[in-house]
Amino acid sequence: MKICRTVNDMRAATRAAKQDGRTLGFVPTMGALHDGHMSLVAQAQQAADVVVVSIFVNPTQFNRATDLDSYPRDDARDLALLEAAGVDLVFLPDVETIYPPGHETIVETTRLANILHGAVRPGHFRGVTSVVTRLFNIVQPDVAVFGEKDYQQLQVIKRMVSDLHMPVDILSGPTCREADGLAMSSRNQRLSPEDRAAAVVLSQTLNAAAALVKSGTTVEALRDMIANAIDAEPRANLQGLDTVTPDTLENLHGPITGPIAIMLSVQFSDVLLLDQKVLTP
Ligand code: PAJ
Repeated sequence: MKICRTVNDMRAATRAAKQDGRTLGFVPTMGALHDGHMSLVAQAQQAADVVVVSIFVNPTQFNRATDLDSYPRDDARDLALLEAAGVDLVFLPDVETIYPPGHETIVETTRLANILHGAVRPGHFRGVTSVVTRLFNIVQPDVAVFGEKDYQQLQVIKRMVSDLHMPVDILSGPTCREADGLAMSSRNQRLSPEDRAAAVVLSQTLNAAAALVKSGTTVEALRDMIANAIDAEPRANLQGLDTVTPDTLENLHGPITGPIAIMLSVQFSDVLLLDQKVLTP
C-alpha cells in the first residue's frame, strides 16, 4: 500500500494506476474508520481495478472549532485497517496541501446545501463540496463511493457532479449497522452507556416507519408516529425529521404513493446522531 501526502505524489500514483486502461475507485473519508467505511472500500474494490482511500479531516465543513478539535484521529490504526483490506493507495494530505495559503474558491450546491440538515449547519455542505472537488481533481477517480448514511451529502455530491460535468461515476453504499441496528458512526464512541442503549430508538423507529408506509398511510400520520416514538425515549431529543422526495429532498405531503426518504437527527446529551431510510409503499 502506497501512502501519498502531496498533490504531485498522488497525481503520479494515479497516472501509474491508470496505465493499461485500469480504472480507479475512490473512497473519501475523514478517518476514524469503522466497518461502514470499510464496506464502501469493498464496494470500490468490486467496481474498480485500483482503489484509493483519502483520510482528511476537512476543517471547512465543521461549524464549530471544538468539533474539529475533538474529531477522533488515529492514522496508524486507520492505515493498518486499509492495508489489511488490500487498499492500493492512501491519500493523506495536510491542511495546507488541500487549502494552500491564499485559497478562496468555493463550490456550492445553492439549494440542496442550505435546506434540511444544511439549514441548521450553515456552510457545512459547502465545505463538503469544496473539499470533494479538490480531492476529485487531485485523485482523478473513475468511480467514487459515498454512504447512504449521510443521505443529504450523497444527494449534494450527485448534484454537484452532474452540474459541473465531473467525469466521475458516483456509487452509494447501504448503511452498516451495529448488531442492535444503530448506524455505525465515529460519533457513537462519544455516547455514554445509557445513551448508547437508548440510541437504538432511531433504527427501531425507522423500521416501524417502513411497516407503516407498507400498510398505507399519509406523510402527516407517519410524522406523528415517528415524533411520538422518539419522544417516548426520555434520553432522545428529536432535532430533525424530514420526509422528502429521495433525490431533490423536497417536502412531501398527503397520501404516500411513491418512494419517500425519512431523515432523522436525534440528540443524546451532546451527541447528534443521524439515520435515514428510503421507504416505498
Ligand atoms: P466520513 O464521515 O469519514 O464518512 C466517509 C464515508 O463513509 C461517507 O461517504 C459516509 O457516508 C460513509 N459512512 C459513514 N458511516 C457509514 C455507515 N455506517 N455505513 C456506510 N457508510 C458510512 O462523510 C465524510 O467523511 C466527509 O464529509 C467527506 C465526504 C470525506 C468529505 O470531507
